[in-house]
Amino acid sequence: MSPRWLGRCPECEEWGSLVEESDATAASGAGVRTVAVLPAGAERPVPITAVDPVGATVRSTGIGELDRVLGGGLVPGSVTLIGGEPGMGKSTLLLQALGDLARRGVRCLLVCAEESCEQVRLRAQRLGALSDGLLVVADTMLPNLIAHVTENEPQVLAVDSIQTVFDPESPGTPGSPSQVRACAQQLVRLAKDRSITTLLVGHVTKDGNLAGPRLLEHIVDTVLQFEGDRHHALRMLHALKHRFGSTQELGLFEMRESGLFDVADPSELFLADRRLEATGSVVTAVLEGARPLLVEVQALVAPTPAPMPRRSAQGLDAGRLSLLLAVLEQRAGLSVVGADVYASVAGGVRVNEAGADLATALAVASAHVDRPVASDTVVIGEVGLGGELRQVQQTGRRLSEAARLGFRRAIGPPSTPEVESMVIVRCATLSEALAAAGLVPGD
Ligand SMILES: Nc1ncnc2c1ncn2[C@@H]1O[C@H](COP(=O)(O)OP(=O)(O)OP(=O)(O)O)[C@@H](O)[C@H]1O
Ligand SMILES: [Mg+2]
Repeated sequence: MSPRWLGRCPECEEWGSLVEESDATAASGAGVRTVAVLPAGAERPVPITAVDPVGATVRSTGIGELDRVLGGGLVPGSVTLIGGEPGMGKSTLLLQALGDLARRGVRCLLVCAEESCEQVRLRAQRLGALSDGLLVVADTMLPNLIAHVTENEPQVLAVDSIQTVFDPESPGTPGSPSQVRACAQQLVRLAKDRSITTLLVGHVTKDGNLAGPRLLEHIVDTVLQFEGDRHHALRMLHALKHRFGSTQELGLFEMRESGLFDVADPSELFLADRRLEATGSVVTAVLEGARPLLVEVQALVAPTPAPMPRRSAQGLDAGRLSLLLAVLEQRAGLSVVGADVYASVAGGVRVNEAGADLATALAVASAHVDRPVASDTVVIGEVGLGGELRQVQQTGRRLSEAARLGFRRAIGPPSTPEVESMVIVRCATLSEALAAAGLVPGD
């Protein structure tokens, strides 16, 4: 709250995000009521069993990896926000999905608020997404947008992007937080009232937030984040919020000239450029939703005279790395004091589960003693503060995936299950694992 007009919010430092509100009614108590009569036509409570189970009728988007992240497809009447940095492929994904839906007879309307219809047609041609059932209109005015929906009654509505839509009846300039919120709120109401599956594209601001400071997250049903390195073809799709399913699934795409393609074998892709017998490199299997994924954890240990050596973690949790370095030192006698430590997950994946602990610790140890871990070895397990190793969920499935990709040896905790065609080396502690991997200093 601010007692006077301010152009910029002192808390979130966003321009134009403050809106004037009167609290005269609250102060006088005039709005307080204990008895009221429902006006005619208002919604009445019903038994929950009498409610239409719309969730059961999810509609596939025709894009396998998008369906995977959505838990099967789009729920009618749901609102999904797709965010990502410029050039990530948001418009591409949207157009491919709409093209496919339209071809299957679903009435689709794409409102391009950023590009001309000609530009969108060119893209649709490149992606093979042309279809008579897909209507496009270039418009930025919210009242017009609602009129287009009223006139055409689409089943799926897509707006690219929500930042460029303008509501003349709300305060603020186009793209300002108050405008974005007002427009999104009206579109959500439209979606719920008419059961229109709605897809909104949102920009990511410089500090990485979706469409302003987490502005729309509460309003929409699902928030998807599109990530990747602009200079590489790999794109990753995560659900940050999903009211109809898990947020654990990871969608993987390859960006080609003719559009986004599902990555058929992600483990193979992540290990494609691995240098065999390299020091500081250890392969582990993580679980991304329902799918085990093989990734390479890399570490570099570089001596430094600096009093505060660097600890850098990319794709891994920095706190977890510090913890593992402390356990390595205190429980396994391997100290990296006086050296910078860099650890990363190759391929740009983000790993935030304990299953990669042992692999990270062994990668650091391998870099430190300058000896490689055998390249046919996969390492799976959590490291406890006492230096003990623990099993992580679904280790069997992770190992089977490793076996499929040609790994023949696994290092893990004592409870690691048997897997066909693989030698399992069971270790109770981190020290034992270091010995099993041939990484004990001075050996
Ligand atoms: N002719 C082309 N051949 C190959 N790839 C292309 C071609 N045109 C575009 N791309 C790819 O598509 C990407 C842009 O996709 P798209 O327009 O869907 O991104 P966006 O996320 O909507 O970006 P913005 O936020 O700027 O609207 C480019 O970064 C490039 O990788
Ligand atoms: Mg775009």
